[in-house]
Amino acid sequence: MKTILATVERQTPKKEIIQQAAEILKQGGLVAFPTETVYGLGANGLDAVACKKIYEAKGRPSDNPLILHIAEKKALYDIVKSVSKKAEKLIDAFWPGPLTIVFEKADCVPLEITGGFSTVAVRFPSHTVAQALIQAAHLPIAAPSANSSGKPSPTKASHVIFDLDGKIDMIIDGGDAEVGLESTIIDVSGEIPMLLRPGAVTKEMIESVIGKIEIDPTVLTKPSQTLIPKAPGMKYTHYSPKADVILVQGNDLQKVQQKIQELVNDSTQKVGILATDQTKDSYNCEIVLSLGDRQNLEQIGANLFKHLRKFDFLGVEVVYAETVPQKGEGLAIMNRLQKAAGYKMITLS
Ligand code: TXA
Ligand code: MG
Repeated sequence: MKTILATVERQTPKKEIIQQAAEILKQGGLVAFPTETVYGLGANGLDAVACKKIYEAKGRPSDNPLILHIAEKKALYDIVKSVSKKAEKLIDAFWPGPLTIVFEKADCVPLEITGGFSTVAVRFPSHTVAQALIQAAHLPIAAPSANSSGKPSPTKASHVIFDLDGKIDMIIDGGDAEVGLESTIIDVSGEIPMLLRPGAVTKEMIESVIGKIEIDPTVLTKPSQTLIPKAPGMKYTHYSPKADVILVQGNDLQKVQQKIQELVNDSTQKVGILATDQTKDSYNCEIVLSLGDRQNLEQIGANLFKHLRKFDFLGVEVVYAETVPQKGEGLAIMNRLQKAAGYKMITLS
């Protein structure tokens, strides 16, 4: 298949391009498009056959449900059974934006896209291009991250091209995804709302709107046969670059730097360091990538997947990575870092 590649202005995407992409979606094809979190791989979310193509293109296990994307609040009521008070509050506070909410699904939503669950995850992205496309298609758009299954999510069109060129109908390049981490997922169907995947809408932000919530224990602990994440996609630990990633954590940043330098010195493999602006110049290593300013977790989140992919591009075999505190967006960053590392972490006393 020849994949059409079209570049658009983020704020003022060309109507003809959006229309062309919308037509492809309406006819059951696949279009990758930018959102504020990561690039998505879209299909008609009410068409089980179209969505099957998503699973094939990504190599995604069929039990892993897709998120439906809408571009106006009223579209929600067509695809879910009911909207609770707490969900309403979250919608008013955070939509459009990087928050996905899990609801009981309406009958029109095929079980093939919900992994057989009676629930459906819904998101209203804030990205202008995503909104324009969803409005033009006039459909709920199913869209997982537009990466090959198991790889870090794409934050640039070039990542999508690398993973999916020739496997999908069209890629819309709308520049870099600004958040760089996938949306926060919350399930408000139970008595106490449960955070299934942390993201840029933080636990603290959610609690300021609806009060206390719980965090799925697998957000920071390795899933096992007895500890199964509620979001099926979170059970995969291989969300990672080809390189082995090892996290080095400690309260004293200087000790962390020393430990990483020791590990680098002792290694016989091609090594890379995932550092921060505060530490990057202290290392003696050929490949040091800085995630950004330690005080600026949004910047660190925006750079994480891009850098994990870059290590692969550079042929790095082992990455030693610093960690960040698990507060605010740090919870999402640590969740993705731990997955990338397959939970390998050296903790300094
Ligand atoms: O930011 C995002 O959410 C991006 C952009 C493209 O919108 N999409 C995304 O989709 O990250 P995906 O498919 O890569 O991740 C969706 C996650 C998976 O872990 C999946 O298991 C979970 O959402 N999920 C989907 N439906 C669910 C449901 N009904 N109940 C629980 N988890 C669900
Ligand atoms: Mg994904």
